[in-house]
Amino acid sequence: MSKMICGCMQVDEDTIKAAIADGAETVEDIEEMTGAGSCCGRCVPAIEKILLKK
Ligand code: FES
Repeated sequence: MSKMICGCMQVDEDTIKAAIADGAETVEDIEEMTGAGSCCGRCVPAIEKILLKK
């Protein structure tokens, strides 16, 4: 498992990258597809960073 991004929903970096590969373009897309960011929101900046890196 790669780096854990969202502790609440147990979503790691590879899962977020896979969602981006599947067409996710915004934090909302990531939230819908992986659940990451849908609980406390603390990981949202980390999700944004991965989205910018693609
Ligand atoms: S750490 Fe991602 S929603 Fe809480």
